[in-house]
Amino acid sequence: MNDFVFYSPTEFIFGKGVTDQVGEHIAKRGYKRALLVYGKGSVVRTGTLDRVKKSLAASGVEAVELAGVRPNPEVGLVREGIELARKENVDVIFPVGGGSAIDCAKAIAFGVPYEGDVWDFFSKKATIAECLPIACVLTIPAAGSEGSSSCVISNDELGLKRGTNSNLFRPKVAFLDPELTFTLPPYQTAAGVTDMIAHVCERYFSGTGSSSLTDNIATGIIRALIDEAPVALAEPENYEARANIMWAGTLAHNDIAGCGLSATPTSRAGGWESHALEHELSAFDASITHGAGLAGVMPAWMRFVWRENPARFLKFALQVFDIEPIDETDEAIEDAVTAAIDELQAFFVDLGMPRTLGEFGIAPEDVDKLLPTLKANKGEVFGGFKKLTLEDAKAIYLSAF
Ligand code: NZQ
Ligand code: ZN
Repeated sequence: MNDFVFYSPTEFIFGKGVTDQVGEHIAKRGYKRALLVYGKGSVVRTGTLDRVKKSLAASGVEAVELAGVRPNPEVGLVREGIELARKENVDVIFPVGGGSAIDCAKAIAFGVPYEGDVWDFFSKKATIAECLPIACVLTIPAAGSEGSSSCVISNDELGLKRGTNSNLFRPKVAFLDPELTFTLPPYQTAAGVTDMIAHVCERYFSGTGSSSLTDNIATGIIRALIDEAPVALAEPENYEARANIMWAGTLAHNDIAGCGLSATPTSRAGGWESHALEHELSAFDASITHGAGLAGVMPAWMRFVWRENPARFLKFALQVFDIEPIDETDEAIEDAVTAAIDELQAFFVDLGMPRTLGEFGIAPEDVDKLLPTLKANKGEVFGGFKKLTLEDAKAIYLSAF
């Protein structure tokens, strides 16, 4: 086990009906004026927004609203939100939604105290030093932003989708009410589960270590998701399935599934190769759902890199799918690893995720368009498990058609 720092300061308030308790918790923390940030309307249609507003009002917390965050949120709305938050003098930023609303809210929260343009934090011109507090109501378990140190924003003008990391914008409090997820479309449920599994895999295949405890936590999360996701799809109102999936999404990405696997104590475990490859897809076409993009690229990445450390993939095969090689020959090892990757991909496909990138309506010729921005974001060489050149990235994309 490598040395590590684990920091997860968020208070998670989990369970049936916690949506109606937000006001008392927000008031208890001394916040008086909240900027509610939400997406394209699901929280209006489901009544969640009204419940949040009612609860805040009952505790004397005022609310102003910023609506319209799109999936793969764009910096333009972040800038609007920063102006609004300043004008309205809010003291807490309060997203109600998924990773997109929460990431938009995070960027507003660290944009408000900064005099320059918020994109400076994504282009590494500035470092986050101050941030308004964030509280959130999660409506889709997927990105794990409710407990993460990441914020991912697209810039359409530059054709970029970029993340920035800081412990300063981990939410102070996150409300996780599994019943809110009953209304999720099957595709979003499936994409969310895929994203969670990817968050665990990026850390598991960090390339820099292993730990029996962390490896069991990691693969335990994946096994639970493999059990629960089909139940949630078949019975959208199955509380136990929804609740397990919701908590899995947080644990997959609050860093507990990577303790001891990082190269340096303060770094996040893993090279995040599949995420790097995916972010170029959803930057290229904002209609691509992040989790679905991961279903397209992650198995291809695994097939490309596993020979770098077959033992690690064999451990994964055993821990997740009870697959073992029949003997120690190279052929048996390859069969076992390939069977595990096949099973993982078949699981994604059974959930309704794409098997190939062609299913997004993009063509192999488009791959060359992804490489300049990948280079701008990650440089000539990136990755932890295996160092990847841009040519390697191209080969991985092409193998996913
Ligand atoms: O916009 P609305 O109308 O609210 O609809 C949303 C959206 O269309 C809908 N939805 C959410 N909750 C619902 C619901 N529909 C019915 N009932 C509900 N209860 O679901 C759609 C997807 O929402 P979104 O917030 O975009 O999903 P997700 O949580 O997957 O977030 C994706 C974004 O997070 C980023 C991704 O790249 C992407 O931009 N990520 C953020 C991370 C982080 N901050 O730590 C890490 C991830 O790796 C990821 O990169
Ligand atoms: Zn992700």
